[in-house]
This record gives sequence, structure tokens and C-alpha cells, in this order.
Amino acid sequence: MSFVDLTAHIELASVPKHLAIIMDGNGRWAQKRGLPRVEGHQAGVKTVDEVVSFLLQIGVPYLTLYSFSSENWKRPPDEVSALMAILKQYLQSDLDKMLENDIRFNVIGRLDDLPGYIHDVVLTAMDKTKNNEKMTLTLALSYGARDEMVRAFKGMSEDVKNGKLDPEKVDEALISGYLDTSNIPDPDLLIRTSGELRISNFMLWQIAYTELFFTDKLWPEFGASDVADVIRSFQMRERRFGMTTSQLTKRGK
Ligand code: IPE
Ligand code: IPE
Ligand code: MG
Repeated sequence: MSFVDLTAHIELASVPKHLAIIMDGNGRWAQKRGLPRVEGHQAGVKTVDEVVSFLLQIGVPYLTLYSFSSENWKRPPDEVSALMAILKQYLQSDLDKMLENDIRFNVIGRLDDLPGYIHDVVLTAMDKTKNNEKMTLTLALSYGARDEMVRAFKGMSEDVKNGKLDPEKVDEALISGYLDTSNIPDPDLLIRTSGELRISNFMLWQIAYTELFFTDKLWPEFGASDVADVIRSFQMRERRFGMTTSQLTKRGK
């Protein structure tokens, strides 16, 4: 896939380092067409492929995709198993693409909740791509930010109890280090498709200063040109991190 025209207005030197996406709206996309919801999930995989190819081309080094939340287990069992089957198929069919394109595959969430046959495919993909460097593609699987925090607090408490951690040493960086995202930077940009204006338990700690974008497009109808539009608009925003505009101007000089 080549996206020459789409890159024209993007400042390649200042693309987001980490883009996170809440890929929502697969079910509604299918239902609007009189199709079973699972066909929406299948169509969503095509969008994933297109978006990954485009981001590789413009040099975004971290992409995180919210693929299955800790709350999505509450869906009907046949939808859950269809999603797991699609995930397995995706990982198997895209592993070669990851190897070819220097993509490191990574996962956040409760990996142990996944059925054994997915667990193995996930670990294989992580292992085979572990030395790749161009992009870290993270799938949030059985992921919930509050669950992630509970696990982090438990880990920290254990370390305090065993004398490995001095409570005086707890600071923001240390907390970040106990989260599933310890090996990736905080997202600069978060996109949610499907018109819902909520975060749905995604990366609550990490998005403290992330730029948020919401679009009405459903995930299967979203694509490279939409990502290009969002990135252009991101590049026009002023990220002040609590400071004033004139402070930022001085710093930039
Ligand atoms: C997102 O699409 C995919 C997952 C949550 C797994 P949905 O399945 O939530 O689609 P809608 O929101 O019902 O349309
Ligand atoms: C969020 O979408 C989770 C994923 C995209 C994987 P949901 O469809 O599960 O979110 P809610 O239930 O509408 O908040
Ligand atoms: Mg949804």
C-alpha cells in the first residue's frame, strides 16, 4: 500500500510518537448492513491493516489498539468466541507482515484470561518480533485500566512487604513502571471512532496529557485518509502541559 498523497500535508518530523485507538463501531457497521456483528469485526481487521501500513509509512513508532476490554467478556459467548477466532487468525496471517516491516508485537491486559490457543499464538508473535524496532504494535487484550491499576498496586504492595520497595521512593515514574505499559511511552494522541464520547476504561493513567479525537465514523469505514486528517489536526494543536503560550514560544526558540 502506498499513501504518497496522504503524507503531503503531514509534518513528518513531528508525527505523534504514540498513537492509541479505541476501535469502536464494528457491530453497528454490520447491523446497518443487515449483517451479523461478527462481519463487522472481520471488516475491522482490514482497517487495522490499512492504518498500520499508513503509520509505518509516516514513521509513527508506537501504536496501541484497544481490541478487547476486560468488560467485553460480558458479551454473548458466541460473539466472544468469534472475536477470539478473528484475533488468532489476525496474528497468524499478519506475523509475516510484522517480520517484514520490523514491527515489534506487544500486548497489554490480562493475557492469562485468553483461551490457551490464543495465549500461545500471542507469545509466539511477541517472541518472534521481539528484536524489531520500527514500530511497537500493542494490542490491548482483556484490558481494563482499573484492572491494570489493581494489578500494579498489588505488585507494589508485595514489593513493599518483601522489603524490595521503599514507600518513600514511590513517584509517578515508579507507578508507570508497574503498569502493563512500562515499556511504552504515554500516548500523544488518542482516537475513538463510532461517535461515543467516552474512554471505556482505557489507559486512564497514561492519557493524562494525551490529545483526544473523536469521530463519528465507525471503525470499518475509518482508514488511512482519516488518520492523516487527525494527525494534521493534531499537529495544529498547542500542547501546553499546564504552561502558557508565551512560555512555550520562548522554550521553542
Ligand atoms: C468494537 O466494536 C470492537 C470491540 C469492542 C471488540 P463494537 O463491537 O463495540 O461495535 P459497536 O460499538 O457495538 O457498534
Ligand atoms: C471499547 O468499546 C472497547 C474496545 C474498543 C475494545 P466498547 O464498545 O466495549 O465500549 P462501550 O461499552 O460502548 O463503552
Ligand atoms: Mg462498541
